[in-house]
Amino acid sequence: MKQSNFIAPSILSANFAKLGEEVDNVIQAGADIVHFDVMDNHYVPNLTIGPLVCEALRNHGVTNPIDVHLMIKPVDRIIPDFAKAGASYITFHPEASEHIDRTIELIKEQGCKAGLVFNPATPLNFLEHVLDKLDMILLMSVNPGFGGQSFIDSTIEKIKVVRKIIDESKLKIRLEVDGGVKISNIAKIAAAGADTFVAGSAIFNTKDYKKTITEMRSELKKI
Ligand code: DX5
Ligand code: ZN
Repeated sequence: MKQSNFIAPSILSANFAKLGEEVDNVIQAGADIVHFDVMDNHYVPNLTIGPLVCEALRNHGVTNPIDVHLMIKPVDRIIPDFAKAGASYITFHPEASEHIDRTIELIKEQGCKAGLVFNPATPLNFLEHVLDKLDMILLMSVNPGFGGQSFIDSTIEKIKVVRKIIDESKLKIRLEVDGGVKISNIAKIAAAGADTFVAGSAIFNTKDYKKTITEMRSELKKI
């Protein structure tokens, strides 16, 4: 069954010089969860933020779930640090872990929700033996590394396939989509079966976050 819709602004496109304020504003504007992109200049060709920044947001007073998207290799060493720093969800790319089941167990042992992330060309067979351990499946609709890229249309069919897998399993797993999500395509993405929508540039590059998120929600109501 589809979960309630979550709007997840990606802080990758926020103004890092005033990050606490940016996160407060986007939550006030109606965001459900905070999408936190971690890049290492190794698994992806960009470098961003780590556990210290996650902890700083918690200390600043952010109480909404923080959705940590790890685009790093290796993954295991840093997971306990993110759990201690206040991560709620921790998702990782299966290609970046030598032992996928172990990494999922590690995330859960640390008290966080676990998710697997699929790049546009990553096959879904990584789901086969771990589906019952997952809280989230994240489908990338761009190649990871940068904000502001265009949505890759073949993701729509992939969303439909994963929706079917989740529904048939009867498990409570979120289906998140990340990359190029905006007001004009969010309805199509939801109709395919997604329930969690990451949007970076489409929110943070607008002046009025509330107006943007409200428009996204009214698009979602059309489904
Ligand atoms: C890309 C990141 C995304 C990114 C999305 O590697 O995982 O979360 O911030 O940015 P937009 O919404 O601008 O495509
Ligand atoms: Zn992301």
